[in-house]
Amino acid sequence: MVTEKIINLINEQITKEQYAAQLYLSMSAWCYAQDLEGIGNYFRVQSKEELMHSDKMFDYINNIGGKVVLGAVDAPPHDFNSAEEIFEKALEHEKLVTKSIFNIVKAATEESDFATTTFLQWFVNEQVEEEASASLLVTKIKRVKDNPSAMYLFDQELAQRVFTPDNGAA
Ligand SMILES: [Fe+2]
Ligand SMILES: [Fe+2]
Repeated sequence: MVTEKIINLINEQITKEQYAAQLYLSMSAWCYAQDLEGIGNYFRVQSKEELMHSDKMFDYINNIGGKVVLGAVDAPPHDFNSAEEIFEKALEHEKLVTKSIFNIVKAATEESDFATTTFLQWFVNEQVEEEASASLLVTKIKRVKDNPSAMYLFDQELAQRVFTPDNGAA
């Protein structure tokens, strides 16, 4: 039995995942405009992953007989100062999302809602991955940002990322 309170929290999380998708797509657009095509590709893939997260929650609410209610998605920022700033903001944002997921896990635990805590386990693990890769990229860009050839290689590396529809999904 999943309560309305938990369904509302997951509905809010759907909007948050969609905002994350908007934010990363906006970061991607900025990078493409700067001819940083590899980093642009990386964030475009990241944006698609966030939409997949939103989809998973959409399916879950339907599976438990709840109703998906979509909220308004805020406009993301579109002006950035550097690729370094983008990676820092992405890491910051992932930390916010982690907190938000933890809050739902906490609420579901308090209600002995094992269906939701089990469902959210995938997201808890995913956030560990997300924060680790975002943090690694912050370190890497700080290392290469003042060296054009290193920066070129870094951008090339991120051009390799491809979207896999159900990456790591149970
Ligand atoms: Fe996400
Ligand atoms: Fe994420």
